Amino acid sequence: MTTKSALRQDVLAKVRAFHAAGQAERTAFRPGQDPVHYAGRVHDADELMTLVDSSLDFWLTAGRFTEEFETGLADFLGIETLLTVNSGSSANLVAFSTLTSPKLGERRIRPGDEVITVAAGFPTTVNPIIQNGAVPVFVDVQLGTYTPTLDAIQAAIGPKTKAVMMAHTMGVPFELRELRDLCDRHHLWLIEDNCDALGSRYDGQYTGTFGHLATLSFYPAHHITMGEGGAVLTNFDELARIARSFRDWGRDCYCSGGENNTCGKRFSQQFGTLPHGYDHKYVYSHIGYNLKITDMQAAVGCAQLRKLPRFIDDRQRNHARLAAGLARHADKLILHTAPPKADPSWFGYVITVRPDSTVTRADLVGALEAARIETRNLFCGNLLRHPAYQNISHRVVGTLDNTDIITTNTFFIGVYPGLSDPMIDHILAVFDGVLQSLKPKT
Ligand SMILES: Cc1ncc(COP(=O)(O)O)c(C=O)c1O
Repeated sequence: MTTKSALRQDVLAKVRAFHAAGQAERTAFRPGQDPVHYAGRVHDADELMTLVDSSLDFWLTAGRFTEEFETGLADFLGIETLLTVNSGSSANLVAFSTLTSPKLGERRIRPGDEVITVAAGFPTTVNPIIQNGAVPVFVDVQLGTYTPTLDAIQAAIGPKTKAVMMAHTMGVPFELRELRDLCDRHHLWLIEDNCDALGSRYDGQYTGTFGHLATLSFYPAHHITMGEGGAVLTNFDELARIARSFRDWGRDCYCSGGENNTCGKRFSQQFGTLPHGYDHKYVYSHIGYNLKITDMQAAVGCAQLRKLPRFIDDRQRNHARLAAGLARHADKLILHTAPPKADPSWFGYVITVRPDSTVTRADLVGALEAARIETRNLFCGNLLRHPAYQNISHRVVGTLDNTDIITTNTFFIGVYPGLSDPMIDHILAVFDGVLQSLKPKT
């Protein structure tokens, strides 16, 4: 072993010992005193070690860990191409922008074209539609699954519709196979915002693999993390190449970092009004960005990826425990469910306080937060009620009645792998305390 590699092993052994020292200081959970988070980073020594390992490489930009992560997660999901980007929001921007490329000819999305989506979700699912000058068309969602029905989507299709772009909210897949068929029949693009649903399946197949494009987020609240990060997924080579271009400054060249002349025509092509043979490396075919990750982020992702199957199981087990414990309050709460063919890798446990109940969201959230149990609203509720969206060009098909109920009556609590059984017992005890003391409605 060289001195350098021996020293690297020494450093990594120290990092493992550092992590173990932290673990030894951990104490048992104290209900009401210790926080019960809704989400968070779950890791062991491996993440610290891969992070330090990559820092010792000092490659800094996307490198060996990025390649390992992209290949590993693509293989897990069974998708042809997985491109890392620096956030889930960037992934949505790249995925949508890809469909505006002139390279797609008549199928490209142009300003004024319509894209079907929902208003009850996360803003950056919708923002790329607006930023690209397309018009979001909002449909309502169902309470319980927080996904729209196929009928609602079908009713929103008009002569200007070019795509459907929406999220598997809280990990619950919408009816993907049927929706993809509907999109194909109407020549629409389908983009799955899979940021909250890594590991969810529909009809036995992973979400994120049905659409023409799909996205992921690796922010700490998500199923696996690298701090900040995301990915764009596709099974279509042409879309993959365009997505890479938007991510990498808009350039036409698709050589990997450090490589030259992958296309074999570096100095022999004609582009725009450039002189013939202008170096392909510096030809720009899209109005692009730089949204790449660093290898340190990917290194953390590699260690997280090895834990993904366990994380999915933990989320499903925690959700099932909460579902069983909350079932006795179904007269006051709309419980979290999924369509029949869905097998969710849940992001959280979503609760809607029934509008005719004597309890309010504020009562429940207040009691939970006082007991140190974190709660979160279902992101923005009705997006159209927020200041930034007051003057956007849009269409609503049907009503957004349920979306408005979500704005006032819905919240979620965690199911992430960092929850222990005593924490879940504590959560259920607080629900029982608030709801069992209520007088029946007269
Ligand atoms: C459905 C959905 N899409 C996109 C995002 C954005 O991801 P990021 O925070 O990595 O930008 C989030 C964030 O939580 C999300 O929930």
